[in-house]
Amino acid sequence: MASPDKKLLRTLGGETLSPPPVWLMRQAGRYLPEYRELRARAANFLDFCFTPDLAVEATLQPIRRFGLDAAILFSDILVVPHGLGQRVWFEEGVGPRLAPIETAAELAKLSPERLHERLAAVYETLRRLRGELPSETALIGFAGAPWTVASYMIEGGSSRDFARAKAWAYARPEEFQRLIDLLTEATAVYLTAQVEAGAEVLQLFDSWAGVWPESGFRRWCLEPAKEIRRRLRQAAPQVPMIQFPRGAGALYAACAEDGGFEGLSLDTTVPLAWAKETLQGRATLQGNLDPLALVAGGEALRAETARILATLGTGPFVFNLGHGIVPETPPEHVAALVAQIRGTAPEV
Ligand code: CP3
Repeated sequence: MASPDKKLLRTLGGETLSPPPVWLMRQAGRYLPEYRELRARAANFLDFCFTPDLAVEATLQPIRRFGLDAAILFSDILVVPHGLGQRVWFEEGVGPRLAPIETAAELAKLSPERLHERLAAVYETLRRLRGELPSETALIGFAGAPWTVASYMIEGGSSRDFARAKAWAYARPEEFQRLIDLLTEATAVYLTAQVEAGAEVLQLFDSWAGVWPESGFRRWCLEPAKEIRRRLRQAAPQVPMIQFPRGAGALYAACAEDGGFEGLSLDTTVPLAWAKETLQGRATLQGNLDPLALVAGGEALRAETARILATLGTGPFVFNLGHGIVPETPPEHVAALVAQIRGTAPEV
């Protein structure tokens, strides 16, 4: 049996726990006043991620406040392009910006050679966290999946339709494959180093997996995820991994069948009964409360939470959101959610 005091490790090992463990994507962030205060101490967001004192504190804030079952490393998926030599910055009020890669020559300039050196602060943050977390709290490391990270690298930031990235993939697939392969390699190496620094679980975020037809999903999302899973199984066989192919729809079944991940994180749109029947026999499921129900609170939040617990909570399950917490979320709603899951909510 996996670490008896860490509920997340037990459910990822296939146990059904009641109540299930709970953590929330983007549990550290602007919805917390203590985060905003901490964030103001760094000149910019990347500096914040790369200052272990601040990143450790940001990781711990939601654990202190809510006693969640897992802490997720405070960092960002876009530290990998930075580690490969691309210019990455975050503009206040805009979001991530990158000097976009537009040609094969620009792609050829990127290299994993200095990845560990450029991401050393992330490993230091993990090492410190392992010393500071309560023994029952699992430490989650993470990375973006190759397609999602590639989309930011090519688009130069967030995108509505991924027109440039998809045009590249369709028109010059061999070249696009080189970028995906570079990211697959870098991500495997990066996640392996996170385990060496103390990560006990790894999550792979493919936030934009849902924009492809089946062929593209299999080639650019599922295959790279499988390769990363294979590489980590060799390097760190004891560490469970969670795949988050957001928007994959019916292709979640292909992930459960073929992905090799212990955990599968469901986005908000995945039907609960279908997930239970089709997916839960093959993977521990995680999800999938609508982050906007958490903003609303009250009866809507209670009803949605109860529905998820009644359906997915009868098998191996981790309670989470279907996507990250949004900045408008009242922290009291998070406390109420955790109390409801643990059966400590006051009756109303
Ligand atoms: O608490 C946690 O979940 C850990 C930290 C974490 C962050 N980003 C911190 C962050 C994690 C796991 C991520 C993942 C991430 N980053 C994803 C995948 C998950 C998803 O949400 O789909 C993506 C696509 C990114 C890229 C990214 N980073 C965007 C698009 C933005 C801007 C949007 C925004 O909310 O500002 C970020 C910035 C970011 N990453 C913030 C945080 C707390 C906010 C920046 C700030 O505080 O100034």
